Amino acid sequence: MMKDNKQVILETQDVKIDFKVGDQIVTVLKGISLKIMKGDFAVIFGPSGCGKSTLLHCILGMERPTSGKVLIDGEDISVMTEDEIVKFRKSRVGIVFQQAIWIKSLNVIENVSFPNILKGMKKEEAQKLAMDTLEEVRLKDWADHHPSSLSSGQQQRVSLARALTLDPLIIVADEPTGNLDTVAGDELINLLAKLNTEMGKTIIMVTHDLEYLKFATKLFHIIDGLLVEEFGNKEAIKMSETLKTKKGTRTAVTVYDKNYIKANKKE
Ligand SMILES: Nc1ncnc2c1ncn2[C@@H]1O[C@H](COP(=O)(O)OP(=O)(O)OP(=O)(O)O)[C@@H](O)[C@H]1O
Ligand SMILES: [Mg+2]
Repeated sequence: MMKDNKQVILETQDVKIDFKVGDQIVTVLKGISLKIMKGDFAVIFGPSGCGKSTLLHCILGMERPTSGKVLIDGEDISVMTEDEIVKFRKSRVGIVFQQAIWIKSLNVIENVSFPNILKGMKKEEAQKLAMDTLEEVRLKDWADHHPSSLSSGQQQRVSLARALTLDPLIIVADEPTGNLDTVAGDELINLLAKLNTEMGKTIIMVTHDLEYLKFATKLFHIIDGLLVEEFGNKEAIKMSETLKTKKGTRTAVTVYDKNYIKANKKE
C-alpha cells in the first residue's frame, strides 16, 4: 500500500502565546509544532490548564499567536486580517464546543440551516440540506422542536449537524462530550468516528475521556504549553488502556502526577 502521500491540512509552526495577566506575562503555549493530515482524527489531551483550548483558538484564528504560524489547507492564517480569518473559518471549519449556542427564536431545523442562509442559499435548499444532515445524526424527527427542549446529547448532535451543513474541511471539537453522560458521549463520538472513517472528514478534538483516545489516528499529548508526546493509532489505543487501568476511570484530569509531568517535560 502507498503510504504517507497524504495532504497536510493543518500545520502549526512553533506557535507561542503570551497572555498579559495584570502586569505579568504568562506564556501559555511555548512553541507548538504539529501537522495534521487530511482524514486524520487528531486528539489532543493533557491536564487542565495546559493550553489545549488556547491551541484550538489559534487553529481557529480566534486567538493570534504571539509568534509562530498556523497554516490551514496551505494558507497562512497568521497574516490574514480579522475579516479574512472569519470568512476563511466559515468556509473551512465546523466547530462543536462543549455547550452549543442557539438562536433562541429558531427551532432545530432553522438553527441548522441558518449558516447556509447567511451565506445566501435559498431557504428551501438550506432546509433540505439541514434535514439531510439531521438524518445523519439521527435527529430528523426533532426538526421542528426548540433546541433547548432537547437533551444535552441531542443538542450536541444538532450542533454537529449544523457544523456539517457547510461541508467543512475540518471539524474542530473542544471537549464535545464534556457535559454528557457516557451513553450520549459515546453516541456523539461514534458519529464523529463514522464521519472520519466513512466520509474521510478531518477531525481535531480535545478530550479528557481516556476511552476516546483510541479513535485517534494522531494523539497529541500537551503538558504545560508544550507538545511532549505524539502517537499514532496503535500507541493511542495502548495509551488509552494504560491510563484507564492506572486511573481506574475514564477521566484523565487527575491522572498526571508531578513526576510524570517532570519526566515528560522537554524544555
Ligand atoms: N485570555 C486569557 N488571558 C489570560 N490567561 C488565559 C487566557 N486564556 C487562557 N488563559 C490561561 O491559559 C492557560 C491555559 O488555558 P486553556 O483554556 O487553554 O487550558 P485547557 O488545557 O483548555 O484547560 P481545560 O482542560 O481546563 O479546558 C490557563 O492557565 C488559563 O488561565
Ligand atoms: Mg479547555
